[in-house]
Amino acid sequence: METIFPSMDRHEFFRIVGTSIGAILLTNCAAGCGDKAGGDPTPDPNQKVDFTLRLSDKGNENLTVKGGYVVSNNVIVAQTKAGQFIAVSANCTHEGTQLIYRANDNQFYCPLHLSRFDPTGKVLYGPATQPLTQYIVESDTAAGTIRVHT
Ligand code: FES
Repeated sequence: METIFPSMDRHEFFRIVGTSIGAILLTNCAAGCGDKAGGDPTPDPNQKVDFTLRLSDKGNENLTVKGGYVVSNNVIVAQTKAGQFIAVSANCTHEGTQLIYRANDNQFYCPLHLSRFDPTGKVLYGPATQPLTQYIVESDTAAGTIRVHT
């Protein structure tokens, strides 16, 4: 019989290698699919949100650019390429990963499992099935502020 290693035949070798690869894949899936993403996957529609962002603050300068966004108070606030301000809950409804805003698509995007949401929070692409919470945004250009509220 042909052997790969002097003390192991081919069937034994592939059995061990196959088991090891299976264990590695299972470990990676458990890590990626587990509850390690943090956050609360289900937005609480009764949660009151009301805060104001000052555009002159260093942390909010992305909002002065079309296509820019910031995350504040678990809300992602973005300025679309058309210059409209939009806001939704910042955590993906699948496993809670913090979303990003993609201005070119005008969508909120989850970098973990690739769910996508439209500007109102509606699911466009899973695995997420629940919508994001959409918030009202009022900009006051004279004061240089943006108010986000329920
Ligand atoms: S955490 Fe899985 S799609 Fe967002």
